[in-house]
Amino acid sequence: MIKLEQILAGCLIFFSACTNKGDMKSKEDQFVEELMAKMTLEEKIGQMNQYTSHWEMTGPAPKNASSQKRLEEIKSGGVGSMLNVVGAKATYEAQKLAVENSRLGIPLIFAYDVIHGYKTMAPIPLAEACAWDPEISKLSSQLAAREASAAGLHWTFAPMMDVGRDARWGRVMEGCGEDPYLASVLSVARVKGFQADDLSQNNTMAACAKHFAAYAFAEAGKEYNTVDIGTYTLHNIALPPFKAVADAGVSTFMNAFNIINGTPATASPYLQREILKGKWNFEGYVISDWGSIEEIVSHGAAEDLKHAAELAVKAGSDMDMESSAYLPYLKELVEEGKVDEALIDDAARRILKLKYRLGLFDDPYKYSNEEREKEIIYSKESREQAREVARHSMVLLKNNDQLLPLSKDIKSIALIGPLADDKNSPLGSWRAQTAKNSAVSLLEGIQNAVGSTSKINFAKGCDLALGDRNFLDELVYAEADVQEMAKAVAAAKKSDVVILALGEDCFQSGEGRSQTDIRLKGVQMDLYNKIRKLNKKIVVVLMNGRPIAIPEIAESADAILETWFAGSEAGNAIADILFGDFNPSGKLTMSFPYATGQCPIYYNHMNTGRPNNTGNVFWSHYTDAPNEALYPFGYGLSYTSFEYGQANVDKQTYKMNEAIQLKVKVKNTGKFTGEEVVQVYIQDPAATYARPVKELKAFQKISFKPGEEKEIEFSLDQSDLGYYSPDGEFLFETGTYHLYVGTNSRDVQKLSVKFID
Ligand code: BGC
Repeated sequence: MIKLEQILAGCLIFFSACTNKGDMKSKEDQFVEELMAKMTLEEKIGQMNQYTSHWEMTGPAPKNASSQKRLEEIKSGGVGSMLNVVGAKATYEAQKLAVENSRLGIPLIFAYDVIHGYKTMAPIPLAEACAWDPEISKLSSQLAAREASAAGLHWTFAPMMDVGRDARWGRVMEGCGEDPYLASVLSVARVKGFQADDLSQNNTMAACAKHFAAYAFAEAGKEYNTVDIGTYTLHNIALPPFKAVADAGVSTFMNAFNIINGTPATASPYLQREILKGKWNFEGYVISDWGSIEEIVSHGAAEDLKHAAELAVKAGSDMDMESSAYLPYLKELVEEGKVDEALIDDAARRILKLKYRLGLFDDPYKYSNEEREKEIIYSKESREQAREVARHSMVLLKNNDQLLPLSKDIKSIALIGPLADDKNSPLGSWRAQTAKNSAVSLLEGIQNAVGSTSKINFAKGCDLALGDRNFLDELVYAEADVQEMAKAVAAAKKSDVVILALGEDCFQSGEGRSQTDIRLKGVQMDLYNKIRKLNKKIVVVLMNGRPIAIPEIAESADAILETWFAGSEAGNAIADILFGDFNPSGKLTMSFPYATGQCPIYYNHMNTGRPNNTGNVFWSHYTDAPNEALYPFGYGLSYTSFEYGQANVDKQTYKMNEAIQLKVKVKNTGKFTGEEVVQVYIQDPAATYARPVKELKAFQKISFKPGEEKEIEFSLDQSDLGYYSPDGEFLFETGTYHLYVGTNSRDVQKLSVKFID
């Protein structure tokens, strides 16, 4: 069974082994204290400053004065870290500047957004989460860390663990979806994948838990918008994944752009000092988000940059990413008595400790090895792993009359859609250093799978977005092209089956990509409707970075496969599923709504006072859309079928210190070997503070051969059944608890038990 405690246990064994020895820690402390004793206040503040690279380190000297100034600051110890310096050569050169010129030769720590790969792209994190498999999450992060560390990088700004309930917000693609428990389990696995149990190894990197906290609750899903959730939602939904990775030993945290309850997260002592460094005893350091110290002024919570620096450092933000607030002002603030020097010491100490753990004081160049870089990046192993993660990430949403898998002997296939031969979109956003257009397209994947046996009639039918699509610019959506549409119709007419690749452009989701409408953009629905009229069998292959509203397609397509942005090996992985070389086992981690107006929509919502249909309008509902999701959290089909037996518990009444032993038999009743994610939800129907209608608390992903039956066991104790009060106090109360067991959050069987004093 996958339980958070078990995952954490592995980490704890490692950490207690270190403390038992004691010597590793004391050596580290001794080293850092000796170094600190030699450092001036300016040098300590320098460690708290992070700059981006605007120049090619290995190329000519920077042209403009500000870059020159930055170079000088690196040389004089005014910079502790850089982001966006990539490649073994560039990191080597940059490191040399710091190590050979600064008085104490303290190495830089190189950071980068390695979100789902460095060169070889694994699926986007939201997709990978749909595998519901910590081993897959770990594998994906290991792959990313291996390649990134070979390119001289020490520290990734991942994983993002913002619990995302609103598909309008483009950054849901970077997280695990809408559930705090699943996000906790998978984020811990990701951290383990990046960091392993020894940061000094040259194939690991420090991870960063971001964005602390509640960034995903931006009002109306609008990027960088105000967050105004209560502390009840903060403690029960937003914070648990962060707590889980803090307990698991994540090296760093990043704070967030948003204001929360009137205070910018970057200036929040409650979040950073009281909770993170206080209650949770987090020993790593906190970096600001890009420019988020400066943005305290824009939020209207500081008079100027100096004031913002004061608020941020007092609140516990240890490193300044690109606000240039600490370097010019912290010394002054200390001298004026506004900032206690002990805060600077504490921040510098935390940063130096990570550098020590990475082994940078032994060899500052250890990760910058061009030969290793060449050997590891885009290796066969990387591509195989990316394909493996991708196959596990896809979710079969519909499969009428077992249309899928298709036979490889099928005579003709029409492959249609703007994403069908797109080699760029499957790479997704936050794509680090991957080469543009380097993914295996769906067209290529199908060609690889069927060889020359089937005739592939390809016609894109329409474009999705126009011109150069990139990380910075807004997209321009395409209009209908009558000729292309006609070609698509002709291709469909002469084929046995239609595969229609629809969805989003890769730069439609990600940072700065909020939408008020999450239906398919451009003329994709026109294309779909034209093809639909032909009465051919249609398989819709979706590529997208957020849930999309597709009620018409859900109604009328024969099969739908959600492939997300599946990375470098996308086309091959999709073909593996379409032609039955891999049986899909992914399950949604975000609800798909019928209509955008349902957003935010999430399965673990609270009840209202009027949850039931009264027969008139006076109950909690919409008049023009259902309350339910089109596809609920946890939903996903397989080529085989599973039957659940009657679940049972060992007792009806438990004492508060006892655990529920829950068992359920599951049988593979179909013809294929397949994996099923058995899910357990709970509900506390009468609590001091009202609780959600359902909450995921355990799951197991199990493989079954055809006809095979297994009894699956779960154990649930107070850590699973309890919750946080609005003050952040953990409560576990007597009374009835409902347990729900099933194949997704909707289709479950219910049991009830009681806890007594
Ligand atoms: C994002 C962070 C990212 C940082 C550095 C910011 O805009 O919010 O998630 O790590 O940029 O690239």
